Amino acid sequence: MQEAAAIDPSLDLEQEILRLKREKNAILLAHYYQDGEVQDLADVIGDSLQLAQAAKKTDADVIAFCGVHFMAETAKILNPTKTVVLPDLNAGCSLADGCPIDRFRAWQARHPGAVTISYINCSAEVKAASDIICTSSNAEKIVRSVPADKQILFAPDRNLGRYLVQKTGRDMVLWPGVCLVHETFRARKLIALKERHPDAAIIAHPECEPGLLQMAEFIGSTSALLQFALRSDKQTFIVATEAGILHQMQKQAPHKTFIAAPPEANCACNECPYMRLNSLEKLYLCLRDLSPRLEMPEALRRAAERPIERMLELSA
Ligand code: 13P
Ligand code: SF4
Repeated sequence: MQEAAAIDPSLDLEQEILRLKREKNAILLAHYYQDGEVQDLADVIGDSLQLAQAAKKTDADVIAFCGVHFMAETAKILNPTKTVVLPDLNAGCSLADGCPIDRFRAWQARHPGAVTISYINCSAEVKAASDIICTSSNAEKIVRSVPADKQILFAPDRNLGRYLVQKTGRDMVLWPGVCLVHETFRARKLIALKERHPDAAIIAHPECEPGLLQMAEFIGSTSALLQFALRSDKQTFIVATEAGILHQMQKQAPHKTFIAAPPEANCACNECPYMRLNSLEKLYLCLRDLSPRLEMPEALRRAAERPIERMLELSA
């Protein structure tokens, strides 16, 4: 594995990353949960859907993906002739890790004839075994696209699933997975915060628990939360999602106040430990060495591509 310690400390990392980006004809895609200094170097910052769309349409030779493994894997599935690198291959996701393919297949086998919708936060193997993929920005539309007489299996996020059941009235069978970041927010702490900021709007990601979502004025994907905050007349926002999004919110609306929803313990658990594995040092190294790369067998890639393409067609 590469060691950040091997980097000459006198290097101007930002300048070096920009130089390597030009030299290798690379595009840098970053999720909103990345550190601010990583976001500031990106060509595209977006939610899961926007980043998948950007990965599919790019004509750059290299995609440097600052996000987590399933996102970079999706980029490779959609644009297989490109070199896709991820600064740290260990940048996983509790949702993807909690849905191993053997248990997933056994679960599907218990519900023959059902349509499986999988949240994009899952492995390529799980995608390949699914009928259609969704992200938090298109999930409602994807659920509504399934004929009413079909049973739906929804994996792996239980909270997003419950939210969709409530929104659409569809009775779905839910996989019991959770995001370890969104699970740390507690309604009790949010109530106390709201009492201190009575004029603030609570906005939340649908990966949060139902009790917390009930308190939210607006629920949406990371980019939908950002857009709501920019357009709203309100001046103060309590933001119940990973704290990295506050960087873009504050940058694009410097006159507004953004408060990160507090986690249950007095820790930094509202930062995704996987997302935050990607540092400037590792980004520099992965662009310099074009490693670590995302690779997968072609048969798996093709099988995983089909349900992602179905999603992209419905999201156009
Ligand atoms: P979106 O950016 O699609 O809202 O997803 C949030 C998330 O948890 C990504 O891992
Ligand atoms: Fe996965 Fe949650 Fe991290 Fe998103 S924030 S990558 S859902 S663990």
